[in-house]
Amino acid sequence: MIYLNGDFMPLEEARIPVLDRGFIFGDGVYEVIPVYSHKPFRLAEHLLRLQHSLDGIRLQNPHSDDEWSRLVEQIIVRNESDDQYLYLHVTRGVAKRDHAFPKGVMPTVFIMSNPLLAPPREWLVNGVAAITASDNRWLRCDIKAISLLPNVLLRQMAVDAGAVETVLLREGFMTEGAASNIFMVKNDTLLAPPKNHLMLPGITYDVVLELAAAHNVPHEVRAISEYEVRTAQELLLTSSTKEIMAITHLDGKPVGDGKPGSMFALLHQLYQNYKTTIMRG
Ligand code: PDD
Repeated sequence: MIYLNGDFMPLEEARIPVLDRGFIFGDGVYEVIPVYSHKPFRLAEHLLRLQHSLDGIRLQNPHSDDEWSRLVEQIIVRNESDDQYLYLHVTRGVAKRDHAFPKGVMPTVFIMSNPLLAPPREWLVNGVAAITASDNRWLRCDIKAISLLPNVLLRQMAVDAGAVETVLLREGFMTEGAASNIFMVKNDTLLAPPKNHLMLPGITYDVVLELAAAHNVPHEVRAISEYEVRTAQELLLTSSTKEIMAITHLDGKPVGDGKPGSMFALLHQLYQNYKTTIMRG
């Protein structure tokens, strides 16, 4: 079951007018929220980021946080899986095609749920391959916009190369992945690029840094150069759907010794423990 503009219905019955500005212009924002054992993970943080994205595109939030929470709860109970990922999407609504904002139009609100599947075991055991590419996106990557054409093209480059993710480089520095945040390890220290307008402020990214701080894992938030990425001891990717994974090959070359490293093992374990405590609480 999905939610669309006030009603719950089977996905097959959901209809959007072709003049929806999401369809015509990609004029909207979205969130992806993991659900573990029927509990949304870091909902408040996801709703805060949604507000940031809506502010970024100057679209009024159609719901209060309480209303969003209730909608999220209802979608979760209407879907069977214990673990789900929610896709929540707001567009500027339906209007005659004109780039400028329409007046007096209701935003379109859509929420769907899909089963959240654990990543293939092979990815956890051996890590995944990534490629690099030049980050040719716009300068507001902090907005989680539904207009994802650059991300789509960049990630397809990875798939075409038999890899899982594309690590993006802009002016000699690493920004993030096409659909994930990227961490690296140097001298046994976890390094993360600072949040700015060139990357999405990942919810998983925050969790990983909080866990590192809470467990005295040496870590630093600072700009990461392309050279450092290419000579990293370990590379990690994080996202709501992939959690935390080791990148063990970059552009066909092994990262470190080409196997998931000890920082990955530690953070992955801490992340799993953290999820369990949250689910119990
Ligand atoms: N993508 N950077 C980009 C460009 C992303 O698309 C994502 C997540 C992230 C990680 O953010 P978070 O930890 O909050 O999921 C970083 C989602 C999963 C998607 O578009 O499907």
